[in-house]
Amino acid sequence: MRLAIFSDVHGNLEALEIFLEALRNDSIDRLFCLGDSVGYGPNPNECLELIRSINNVVVLMGNHEWALLNMAMAQRSMNPVAFKAIEWTRLRLVDANFDYISCLPIGAEYGSICFFHASANSPQQWDYVRPGDRLTVQSCFNSSTQRITCVGHTHRPMLLDINGDLVLPTVLFSDGTSYQEDGKSNLIINPGSIGQPRDHSHLPCYVIYDSDTRSITWRRLTNYDASITAKKICASGLPAELAYYLID
Ligand SMILES: [Fe+2]
Repeated sequence: MRLAIFSDVHGNLEALEIFLEALRNDSIDRLFCLGDSVGYGPNPNECLELIRSINNVVVLMGNHEWALLNMAMAQRSMNPVAFKAIEWTRLRLVDANFDYISCLPIGAEYGSICFFHASANSPQQWDYVRPGDRLTVQSCFNSSTQRITCVGHTHRPMLLDINGDLVLPTVLFSDGTSYQEDGKSNLIINPGSIGQPRDHSHLPCYVIYDSDTRSITWRRLTNYDASITAKKICASGLPAELAYYLID
């Protein structure tokens, strides 16, 4: 089985379309979207509608969907730019999409893999699972129901071992970066972000996991032009900082 694992689309329609186009040339059996399909970007409705139209996709709730459903609490916990984008999104989200995000699950499982937006430990605390943060990594592993845990939220591609150490240095996450897992070890995989990457590259990033060969491959979409989305953000009335994140 070939699984496509992606996260943090964040209302970026151009990046999402390029991602889905790339998958057309790949034989994917199932897709797992780890949440934050909206927030920050200028096309929340279009992105949700496109994601909902995908066959064999499991879509999780991220902290931005949660924020749309819990505005008062989100205002206290989010940074001001992120919350402005939530307010902007809430005003525009159509009822059908609001109803859809309100029913999204917080986690999912498939074979020896479980999926969350943030840590497996109290997922709605939205803890960031980061390399070197042994406490958070350990609590994520301890709460995980499967050997492999996939998380998003940091917008950074990552592979961590049971000690919280990087199995692959982050600088290596170019298109085609691959790792052959042994079928025994506990791992945390972060596919990176489709719509707002925050690592060395601004190119959309996702993971293909092949359960037959046990290979984990990060794909990076080199044909994405962030300036188109950045211009749309500026024209939409969203905070301009959100455009700079894409092209800075
Ligand atoms: Fe996010």
